[in-house]
Amino acid sequence: MTQIAGSSTNKRLHIDVHLNGDGILETMADDVRLGLSAPQKWLSPKYFYDDLGSNLFEQITVLPEYYPTRAERKVLEDITDGLMSHLRPAEIVELGSGSSIKTRVLLSAPSAADHLRRYVPFDVSEGIVLSAAQELLLDYPYLAVHGVIGDFEHHLSQVPQSNGRRLMLFLGGTIGNLHPEQRTFFLREVRSLLSEGDRLLIGVDLVKEVNAIEAAYNDSAGVTAAFNRNVLTAINRGLSANFEPDSFEHWAFFNEVESRIEMHLVPAKQQRVRIPQLDMSLTINPGESIWTESSYKFTEESIRRMLGSAGFHLEHLYTNNEPDSLFGLALASPAN
Ligand code: SAH
Ligand code: AVI
Repeated sequence: MTQIAGSSTNKRLHIDVHLNGDGILETMADDVRLGLSAPQKWLSPKYFYDDLGSNLFEQITVLPEYYPTRAERKVLEDITDGLMSHLRPAEIVELGSGSSIKTRVLLSAPSAADHLRRYVPFDVSEGIVLSAAQELLLDYPYLAVHGVIGDFEHHLSQVPQSNGRRLMLFLGGTIGNLHPEQRTFFLREVRSLLSEGDRLLIGVDLVKEVNAIEAAYNDSAGVTAAFNRNVLTAINRGLSANFEPDSFEHWAFFNEVESRIEMHLVPAKQQRVRIPQLDMSLTINPGESIWTESSYKFTEESIRRMLGSAGFHLEHLYTNNEPDSLFGLALASPAN
């Protein structure tokens, strides 16, 4: 682990980094070997988020077709004052925090300066957490920031010891990027980081009209397509591979049976790829695809079940009222 402690000008910043010397997760090699050897080739969406990928995601959040960020922000604005003044957390731990832009809604609550002491952003993307942390320290003088750069599927034990009532955040609908088995394992780990009185606030995209969902992943400006292709660029850099990202087409559709958007990359013509660090060569034919992301959409019932199976009780599901942009924030407490 590398540590970046606060400089003399800023004692309120502390960052722990659980990446290799190139700023990459140690698991990339094994994951890519496994995924590209499977009959249906796949890559984990966690590898989207190098600096460029994080930047492309930020661009996605303001696209006219991409409703989740706006819808979630609206719900957050509606519930923040009540939630913060009632719960009075001493710390906020946020998994997959990215730019932390929406988190500012909570940090700006009228009661926050009275009870909130520490913010713990946890994300795989080092650059975006560092810049978010610097800006938060300037804008919230009452707050200490302890960032953790790592994989929330492997490094949750590295979340610092609790220093008071904890509000755990997992915003954006990122829970939907985990498959059901991964989700249950992950949420059980999250449960182990919470004590009585703590809460989990989790953003969940809700099932809605298929056209609205599909449009959000097929924007007319092509930003989602660039985001999708960027996973190949990230793998080229991480493993010295020679994918040609521009030779792949973006394909995203709603799988109604599984209640998920699937994003794939489809080669326009046969691709031969060499991955020297894995001593691996592969051929990808036009009839094949690389499945790069799933984004599951939920109902109140499936949210209750998911939380229940991981030892959480769903206290309340807050939603916005516009039928075409339904997004939920589920407030959950650790069950005994
Ligand atoms: N919470 C923000 C960002 C959501 S994008 C929002 O609501 O807008 C998903 C974020 O999760 C990205 O910042 C990405 O880097 C991070 N992420 C994805 N997989 C991760 C993993 N396995 N471990 C840690 N962070 C991850
Ligand atoms: C981060 N995550 C919730 C986004 C989603 O909608 O599944 C990632 C994304 N993929 C394509 N567009 C946005």
